Amino acid sequence: MPVRVEYPEIPSPCFVLEERLLRENLSLIQSIAKTTDVEIILAFKGFAMWSVFPIVREYVSGATASSLNEAMLCVEEMKSPAHTYAPVYDLETFSEIIKLSSHITFNSLSQYERFYPMIRESGKKVAVAIRINPEFSEVETDLYNPCAPGSRLGVIAAQLRDKLPEGVDGLHFHTLCESSSADLEKTLAAVEEKFGHLLKQAKWLNMGGGHLMTRKGYDTGHLIRLLQNFKAHYPNLHVILEPGSAFAWETGFLKATTLDVVENKGIQTAMLNVSFAAHMPDCLEMPYQPRIRHASSVPVPGKPLYRMGGNSCLSGDYYGSWSFDEELQVGDNLILEDMIHYTMVKTTFFNGVAHPSIGIIRQNGEFELIRKFGYEDYKAKLS
Ligand SMILES: Cc1ncc(COP(=O)(O)O)c(C=O)c1O
Repeated sequence: MPVRVEYPEIPSPCFVLEERLLRENLSLIQSIAKTTDVEIILAFKGFAMWSVFPIVREYVSGATASSLNEAMLCVEEMKSPAHTYAPVYDLETFSEIIKLSSHITFNSLSQYERFYPMIRESGKKVAVAIRINPEFSEVETDLYNPCAPGSRLGVIAAQLRDKLPEGVDGLHFHTLCESSSADLEKTLAAVEEKFGHLLKQAKWLNMGGGHLMTRKGYDTGHLIRLLQNFKAHYPNLHVILEPGSAFAWETGFLKATTLDVVENKGIQTAMLNVSFAAHMPDCLEMPYQPRIRHASSVPVPGKPLYRMGGNSCLSGDYYGSWSFDEELQVGDNLILEDMIHYTMVKTTFFNGVAHPSIGIIRQNGEFELIRKFGYEDYKAKLS
């Protein structure tokens, strides 16, 4: 039986973004922003493939940074100052963050007290916000729930006074993760209940990320109505959303290759040239089973069933079970779907495993290899 070859022009392993799909997401995001008069910016933490920022810039004009490095990338490659929110800032880098940012959000009142004077003394016009924690989130996985009891993220209502602190004219919350507009609606009710008086004083509100508006079935009409109603209620507020996943949702894949098939107590594992731990950590953290093209993630009786095994030596570097129409063979290519958001930004060189290349399928169908990684990249992360 011949081996299954997918996209022969694309090396393996490789993260492959499809420009057409990215543009579809960007158009939808742009039209929601225009219709609602809400600013929608890209959260780099979810997607920071800067070679396509010239395309992103055709549709949205800003980005949110969660570190000095992301703020630098924003100025350099998005050509705009960053909306910066980091859970914690440090003295060594904060002056630089001021220079690179149009907006800075503090996670706690103690951080505000320590660092706001530096903004004031810099003389630079920076919009300043406090991240609030409405103690309400529909996110069920604690790893992604910023409102779990004891959370270190954001200031709870009991800790804030009746007035916004000096120099603060914005509020920021982030409570959603791959969520619907109905989840946002419930969150807004909690935010209004706990922080309504401060919403009236503020000039801007950042509603964070997690708005998965590009997912099939997401009720964009409801989101639009919700945002319009909210803005009608608070005409004083400039509203910002900063999704990451929504930008790159289902815009590409990870091409991999089967290098071996091992068997233990009836379980067959396809050993791939990629690693869940190093290249798809969300699969293990969330956890979730990615889709594989031409395979069923629900076992089909009578069809060959495989676990996918990563190429690091971590015992748990494997996932799930997929049924294939035919037995997998050494050399078969596999296409792991929807592997663009929260993958490239999270990869590591754990075990020194080869890092997937990065490429783009252009709108005319042609593949362009953007980056290949080698020994020097691995070595440069160590010393
Ligand atoms: C503060 C903040 N903003 C935005 C985002 C982006 O969220 P998403 O990629 O789920 O849209 C995150 C994700 O963790 C976040 O923590």
